[in-house]
Amino acid sequence: TFIIKANQPAATIQPTMWGVFFEDINLGADGGIYAELIKNRSFEFFKPLMGWRVDQKPFVEGAVTVQNRQGANLPNPRFLRVQLNNAAKGNLSMTNEGFRGMGIKKDLRYDFSVMYRTAGNIKLHVELLNAKNQVIGNSVVDATATGDAWKKLAKSFQSTDTAQKGQCRIWFEGTGTIDLDMISLFPEDTWKKRPGGMRADMIQMLADMKPGFIRFPGGCIVEGFDLSNRYQWKKTIGPIEERQLIMNRWNIEFPHRSAPDYFQTFGLGFFEYFQLCDDIGAEALPILNCGMACQFNSAELVPLDQLDPYIQDALDLIEFANGDVTTTWGKKRAEMGHAAPFNLKFLGVGNENWGPQYIERLKIFQKAIKEKYPNIKIVASSGTGPDGDRFELLNTELRKMNTDLIDEHYYRSPEWFFSSVRRYDNYPRTGSKVFAGEYASHVDKTNGAQRNTWLAAISEAAFMTGLERNADVVSMASYAPLFSHIDGWQWAPDMIWVDNLRSYGSPTYYVQKLFSLNKGSKVVPLTLNNDVVAGQDSLYASSVIDAATNELVIKIVNASNKEQATVLSVEGVKKLVAQGKLTVLQGSSLTVVNSFDQPTQVSPKESTIAIKTKKIDYTAAPYSFSVLRIKLQ
Ligand code: AHR
Repeated sequence: TFIIKANQPAATIQPTMWGVFFEDINLGADGGIYAELIKNRSFEFFKPLMGWRVDQKPFVEGAVTVQNRQGANLPNPRFLRVQLNNAAKGNLSMTNEGFRGMGIKKDLRYDFSVMYRTAGNIKLHVELLNAKNQVIGNSVVDATATGDAWKKLAKSFQSTDTAQKGQCRIWFEGTGTIDLDMISLFPEDTWKKRPGGMRADMIQMLADMKPGFIRFPGGCIVEGFDLSNRYQWKKTIGPIEERQLIMNRWNIEFPHRSAPDYFQTFGLGFFEYFQLCDDIGAEALPILNCGMACQFNSAELVPLDQLDPYIQDALDLIEFANGDVTTTWGKKRAEMGHAAPFNLKFLGVGNENWGPQYIERLKIFQKAIKEKYPNIKIVASSGTGPDGDRFELLNTELRKMNTDLIDEHYYRSPEWFFSSVRRYDNYPRTGSKVFAGEYASHVDKTNGAQRNTWLAAISEAAFMTGLERNADVVSMASYAPLFSHIDGWQWAPDMIWVDNLRSYGSPTYYVQKLFSLNKGSKVVPLTLNNDVVAGQDSLYASSVIDAATNELVIKIVNASNKEQATVLSVEGVKKLVAQGKLTVLQGSSLTVVNSFDQPTQVSPKESTIAIKTKKIDYTAAPYSFSVLRIKLQ
């Protein structure tokens, strides 16, 4: 019998308890949530024509070149020059391959745009192609004479068919020279139909989770392979043609793994991340570089006496998010279309950084930020724990500094997750809070990829009951990584898998979603023989009260292969409403996974449950995660 003391709130659950971690890894941003279909639209990739194919008939030497504006520190120096001599359609074309192809949907509007200049009058024939090179949508764009000035041209047209791996071809017609830059193609059906926006199906999956926060922009990309490759938020805002791209750090580390052409164009930048948080009601949790590059790679350090620009970036970011329109950075936010502040509350300093070098840098950041913005909560990194001396030392130091939140990461085996369910039972209840900022259960490799099996997900669910029970210590938690493109990934397992047209949630996605949607407001004790339920007979459980709906919410994980009959004895309430809601997530075996063919093989099944007395008989199915919601009277 599980005893639930529904009138004895033990801990307050923070609204931020269950959130998401976003990083541009596995084609998460470019080729992922950023809906741009043209790869290397501004010719700034390492190889300037990467992603493009030039076809000419007859061949004319030098007809297509990449030019460089040659100025110092230009964010977007290169552009394409095409020289034409009485060219007809069929003579010269440029074809863009997209990010592992382009997902094209039948009868959808596509928005083509380009920046150009020409002295002649040139026609661009824009075509969408399917995998057989058949035209499935086209339009003619008149590039009329501009002289020396650059002009933006936009044209929208419908597609006539669907293609999983389409391409975009541009034929040139006319005579003269035309310069082109920022060649772009977006589908109409972006998130909130924003022009140049995000891929709606992927964002909808996030919105459906109602995450308490979004941590961005990573991960290792915050640190950079070296400091020149670190994430610099100021280069990711403003007009997109002025955002300076860099090679993605995940490209540098794993150029052989499906993404030798992986760049961060920053069409999706900090403004867009804040806007997304605003859209889906999540707190923003930006993480900034602390003056250290990735310690697994270059371990490059900024000398302490040269840290000022990094600290200024942090202070300016807070002003960008929260300052009114009379401030320098608040004005920039307003110019981008959001006059109201974003109400930023959290700021992370460093990702997976450690050692005395981290502590001495963090101290300088913390002092400067708290002096100017005492209410901003600082999130400090605690390396890649959770075991071992490095982690213990760091945690001790961070607690001495009274840092608001300590970001712990654990990518471990299912066994570790099951056996660590009591991890936070004995943590200090005062002082720094825990942010479980990256975690994932990693099962043995299958087919070269570590897959999101039901075993991985159920071990995470078991562990999460422990996080929930300890909500007075753990204020935030997020699984990582979030997204992965099936044709371009570096890291697995991941929560949500996509191809160019489809997306599906792994079993882990549904575990995360169920915790988030059933977050509640106060933890209430749930015990078996006076102990928490943390692995007895492979059962794990926790319970919360949801004050908003006056419901008791009970979560039970049965990680065994047999049914388990339990009695849930609810104490401290007058009566329970006769009918409760039951949601069960169950796998037919521990190795079962979701896939594009069977996207909901492991997915929640909802039903009702009759409640006759305050002693509820509940039989947990083999290998299942159950959530019961019962109204109190
Ligand atoms: O989630 C993938 C990576 O794992 C993150 O970028 C990094 O923080 C961690 O090492």
